[in-house]
Amino acid sequence: MPLTSAARRRALLAATFSVIALAACGKKEPAPAPAAAPAAPPAPVVKTYTVGTDAAYAPFEKLSASNEVEGLTADLLKAVAAKGGFEVKFVNTPWEGIFKTLESGERDIVASSVTITDERKQTMDFSKPYFDAVQLIAVKEDSKVTQFADLKKLKVGVQTGTTGDEVVQKLLGKTNPNIKRFESTPLALQELSAGGVSAVVADNGVVQHYIANNPAAKFKSVSDASFVPEQYGFAVKKGNAELLEKINKGLDAIKADGSYDALMAKYFGARPAAASAAPAASATPAAPPASGAAK
Ligand code: ARG
Repeated sequence: MPLTSAARRRALLAATFSVIALAACGKKEPAPAPAAAPAAPPAPVVKTYTVGTDAAYAPFEKLSASNEVEGLTADLLKAVAAKGGFEVKFVNTPWEGIFKTLESGERDIVASSVTITDERKQTMDFSKPYFDAVQLIAVKEDSKVTQFADLKKLKVGVQTGTTGDEVVQKLLGKTNPNIKRFESTPLALQELSAGGVSAVVADNGVVQHYIANNPAAKFKSVSDASFVPEQYGFAVKKGNAELLEKINKGLDAIKADGSYDALMAKYFGARPAAASAAPAASATPAAPPASGAAK
């Protein structure tokens, strides 16, 4: 059967093509086109971490007029983040339940003057300590209280679930109705003003700051040698080693370059003498004891 002209053209084309293909086979394979330009190393991704802070804890954490979390903790963590290669976004978060936000992923860091305790270490991880603290008793100026044991028969205000709450539980008993628990430390201190409690036990820095800034309340502070030294750390979800490493790296850097000391001076006038945060190999002699916090 004679081929149609179209079929002939197709046959010719196919033949031509196989000749070319055969010819190509004899030649060396052309080098594959270079796959784009060699990939530049990926720019380091700067992660933004969400930070939970109970911003009712001046001078460590408080809210600005425009409701931004500010204070020593915010300044410190921002400086740490800059050196550690990450960014932070603060969210005012109630103290009660604040640690659960790590587990749920709502917060990546809790920066809230959190005392590092063995019990808390079971459920979260902590950065290196960044501040020394101790419990302190606030009473009215005319109070007869001179030591912690004097609180035994009194109504005592604490912030729920704080280390202040824990020490008072040890003295009065966990379920003693004389322990009055408040959702914030300022609320407990206001109740002291109002006469609803006879004493408040809380972190020294906050008690001292409140007394200094509320002279009309006519409070004084009473210390007690039985209070064990505490240290603040930044808390992260248990197992978040990547973030912990960045935080610790940043902490080391701000201690080494003097910005940690500068922040302490900004808030307390001088670096607290007992601050655990003193650089390990500081070239400068320790500052004289600060009259402020962290003694
Ligand atoms: N240091 C104490 C604790 O860890 C009290 C911290 C309270 N912080 C706050 N922002 N309310 O239990």
